Amino acid sequence: MNNRIDIDLLLANANKENRKKTLGLFDLSILGIGAIIGTGILVLTGIVAATDAGPGVIHSFLIAAVASGLIGLCYAELTTSIPNSGSAYVYAWASVGQTVGFFAGWTLLGVYITTTATVANGWSGYVRSFMHEFGVDIPTAWLTSPFNGGIINLPAVIMILLVTFILTRGTSESKKLNNFLVLVKIAIIVLFVVVGFADIDKTNYSPFLPYGVKGVFAGASTVFFAFLGFDALATSAEEVKDVQKTLPRAIIISLLVATALYIVVSLVMTGVMKYDQLNVPEAMSFVLLSKGHNVVAQIISAGAILGIIAVVLAFIYASANITMSMSRGGFLPKKLATINDKTGSPNKALWLIGIIAAVCAGLLDIKNLAIFANVGSLLVFFLISLMVILLRRQRPDLNRPFKVPFGYVIPILSMIVCAFLLFNLPLNAWLNYAGWLVIGLVMYLAYSVRHIDSEQKES
Ligand code: ALA
Repeated sequence: MNNRIDIDLLLANANKENRKKTLGLFDLSILGIGAIIGTGILVLTGIVAATDAGPGVIHSFLIAAVASGLIGLCYAELTTSIPNSGSAYVYAWASVGQTVGFFAGWTLLGVYITTTATVANGWSGYVRSFMHEFGVDIPTAWLTSPFNGGIINLPAVIMILLVTFILTRGTSESKKLNNFLVLVKIAIIVLFVVVGFADIDKTNYSPFLPYGVKGVFAGASTVFFAFLGFDALATSAEEVKDVQKTLPRAIIISLLVATALYIVVSLVMTGVMKYDQLNVPEAMSFVLLSKGHNVVAQIISAGAILGIIAVVLAFIYASANITMSMSRGGFLPKKLATINDKTGSPNKALWLIGIIAAVCAGLLDIKNLAIFANVGSLLVFFLISLMVILLRRQRPDLNRPFKVPFGYVIPILSMIVCAFLLFNLPLNAWLNYAGWLVIGLVMYLAYSVRHIDSEQKES
């Protein structure tokens, strides 16, 4: 029942797959930055500073960055040893067995779908405030989920479906759009820092830790969301040129860029305005408006609207890759693994994921979506770190083009950090996750167990 897939078979099949190798270090780092920087920094920073950590939100970001770095190294070892779009699902299938493999993949799918939906929700907030400045007020009912008294979050639905359409046109089309969007995103962050820097008032940094160390840790669990995305890079492994070198480097580069930007944004934000006034979702433009930089604030809102699209793009792409990989293994219907001849993209998987994410974004509550994404991803990251250890023991002979240094120290530290952040999350998050697991269990028992193809006969 709990058979593992043979890694050598996976490696042989990876060579047979016809996906084009189009992604180099630059593209992959941009894809990583595109996936990482988004709603987290643009929406959460102010809220976490106001309610959890004060100016100490900088420390929260640093803790979350260290955690992501440790996890990122573990990801890099697994991804370069087994380059497969299925990411955690495949590593778990190979090292623990099919049941854990299925649930790792299922969890990751849930995480990527809810991240997409969360980000699209944050995005529609920026759309609303941007349009408001031009005298257009979108009715609240069309921006709000039924759980919060509205009808549907329509802009979020439309944006997700449009991004899905672009992705079905193939990687090179999406790559061009992504590169442009990432540039816009970095430009507005730099603009915010440059313009805001002159308005820093050092007295705003005191008290630096108004809610103590506990607040900093609680903040770290929340802003961890801002780093999600580095893991999505692992799902593009099959399309990466010289994957062994390119992938670990791209993970580290995109994390470093994101961390540097997050730290300076938090420093400027909490320096310009007292932390207790920052409890608004569009804190960046809010802070600048308060100092009379109205035009720059509007430019930043416009840039955020464009830039956040890159996150949605990266996460839908990653979910479709996992769906495709799980279908190849027979965990999900094989049809979903079909790759379009012209565009080289898994269009059936893309539309399935795009539609589910659009429904979630339109109808579900943003807070529940976000904490679901945090619980699920931390569980998967815990498993990833554990699997580095398991696979080293089971297959010491496996070719590991990248090996996490210092023996088991980093994977163990990574597991401890994940567990710590998990325990800081609210009960609600666990309950939502349990609901998703039950749906997964039904799927697994009703379909997967009868179709799993651990010999990859049909590949
Ligand atoms: N890290 C991504 C963001 O903050 C999910 O939007």
